[in-house]
Amino acid sequence: MRWRRTRTSSKTDYGKPGRDCPLCPRLKAFREEWRIRQSSWFNAPVPSFGAANARLLIVGLAPGLRGANRTGRPFTGDYAGGLLYETLKRFGFAEGDYAARPDDGLKLIDARITNAVRCVPPENKPTPAEIKTCRAYLQATIAEMPNLRTIVTLGRISHDSTVAALNERSSTAPFAHGSSWVLKGLRIFASYHCSRLNTSTGVLTPENFRAVFAQVRGYLDACSQATTSPALLSGGNTG
Ligand code: URA
Repeated sequence: MRWRRTRTSSKTDYGKPGRDCPLCPRLKAFREEWRIRQSSWFNAPVPSFGAANARLLIVGLAPGLRGANRTGRPFTGDYAGGLLYETLKRFGFAEGDYAARPDDGLKLIDARITNAVRCVPPENKPTPAEIKTCRAYLQATIAEMPNLRTIVTLGRISHDSTVAALNERSSTAPFAHGSSWVLKGLRIFASYHCSRLNTSTGVLTPENFRAVFAQVRGYLDACSQATTSPALLSGGNTG
C-alpha cells in the first residue's frame, strides 16, 4: 500500500503555508524585515513549482534570499537555478528558456520542485526546529502527488527531512551523493545540493549532477514500460 494513503499525522492536513505563515517566529521576523526593505519582492513562503500529477519531485533546501524569495519560484534568480534547470532540460524534465524570472515561460515536464523549508532563512541556514515544523508541508506536498514515483533530494538537510517526511529513520537511507533507496514505494535519489558553494569547491560538478538525473530518467523510462512494482526496478538500495 502506498504511504500517502496510510498517513495518519494530523499535521499533514494543513496543506500549504499561507503568505503570513506564523509557525517559525524567526523566519516570520526575517520575512517581515525584507518586506520593508524590498517591498516589490515576493517575501513569502515559496510554493512548489510544477504539476501535482508529476512522477518526479525534487526537494531543495530553502528559498535563496535574492533568488526564490525575490521571485517566488523555487531556484529562480540565483546560481543554483542555472545548473538545476539546465540539467532538467537536458534530461527532458523541462522545456523553454530559463531566464531567472517566474514569467520566463519555462515549463516542467513530469517534474515538480519544492523546498524542505518554504521561507527564506537568515544566512541560508534553517534551524532543526524550522526544518521539522515545515516538514508538514513537505509531507502534504508528497501526499498530494498521485503519480509520484521518485524523489531527488538536494543536499543532506533536504534528504534527511524527506526521509523523515516518509516516516523513515535517517539510518535507513543515510545521505550519499548518487545513492538511491526505495522508501514507502518511492525511489529516492540523493544528490549534493547544486549551490554555488558546492560547485565552486568541486564538491559537485555538472557531470556528477547530471549523472543523478540520468539515473532518474532511466528509472522513470523503465517505470513507463514496467508491469511490476516500479520502485523495485534497477534493484534495491544503493546507499
Ligand atoms: N533556491 C531554492 O528554491 N531552493 C534551494 O535549495 C536553493 C535555491
